[in-house]
Amino acid sequence: MTIVEVLKLSADYLQKHGSDSGRLDAELLLAHALKVRRLDLYLKFDRSLGEPELSAYRGLVARRAKGEPVAYLVGHREFMGLDFEVTPDVLVPNPDTEVLVQRAVAIAREAEGPVRVADVGTGSGCIAISVAHYAPNADVWASDSSPEALAVASRNAARHHLSERVHVQEGDLMSGLTGEFDLVCANLPYVASGAELPAEVTAQPARALYAGDKGAALVARLLTDTPPRLRQGGRVLAELDPAIVAAITELAGRTYAGHRVHRDAGGHERVIEAWF
Ligand SMILES: C[S@@+](CC[C@H](N)C(=O)[O-])C[C@H]1O[C@@H](n2cnc3c(N)ncnc32)[C@H](O)[C@@H]1O
Repeated sequence: MTIVEVLKLSADYLQKHGSDSGRLDAELLLAHALKVRRLDLYLKFDRSLGEPELSAYRGLVARRAKGEPVAYLVGHREFMGLDFEVTPDVLVPNPDTEVLVQRAVAIAREAEGPVRVADVGTGSGCIAISVAHYAPNADVWASDSSPEALAVASRNAARHHLSERVHVQEGDLMSGLTGEFDLVCANLPYVASGAELPAEVTAQPARALYAGDKGAALVARLLTDTPPRLRQGGRVLAELDPAIVAAITELAGRTYAGHRVHRDAGGHERVIEAWF
């Protein structure tokens, strides 16, 4: 079978087994199995595949069809134009989070001098590292309660030559971080316990997904705890599920001088920005 034939068959198979991006998944997995770039598949569409190559690919497609995220199968994922190592110890970086990073980078770049940024619940480090990459005046402290996640974040900081400006620290929310910050960013768990989720989501660590109070508990605790940790003019940016926007904006209205909600590329209310 040729590359083009294999891609057609496997894309259809994945689509039938619950993937809403069957063709893309098939291409990413085949490129990984053949150890080539995705673009190379298009340059060699008519190349025949041998049995060992097909067998490795079939294994990956079978795992994907059972719900394993592509990023865990290939070991990395693109986010904000950067490539991040991803393992089952961390949430797969999600494009919905890019609106938070874009706003964080804009805030950091508007500052005249160096800025101190915290990324709370850093996981793979995708927020902390993207902010440090696109805002060279930012020094970023990245915290997580999971040492396994922090090991991945440290490797990603080194991968992007940012270990000197991205400092990882274990702890509950901001408890392991010292000093005050110009900007506190967070994509914390916000799924209500007991919510029905697709296999691709439940394959990710439960500590990265679920929070009490119908999903609002951790974001609410962060917003309540953060004011004394902000410098004059400091801001907090936290990712939300649309289901918790009402509870969180009500809390922000009581705790902060001002707040606004940013929408993601799909038009959903996704990020709260709050300030004094
Ligand atoms: C939704 S994931 C986000 C990961 C990453 N920031 C991203 O955007 O892809 C949430 C992360 O928060 C961490 N976490 C959960 N509860 C926490 C807590 N109480 N304190 C610190 N980190 C926590 C989890 O280990 C997980 O890595």
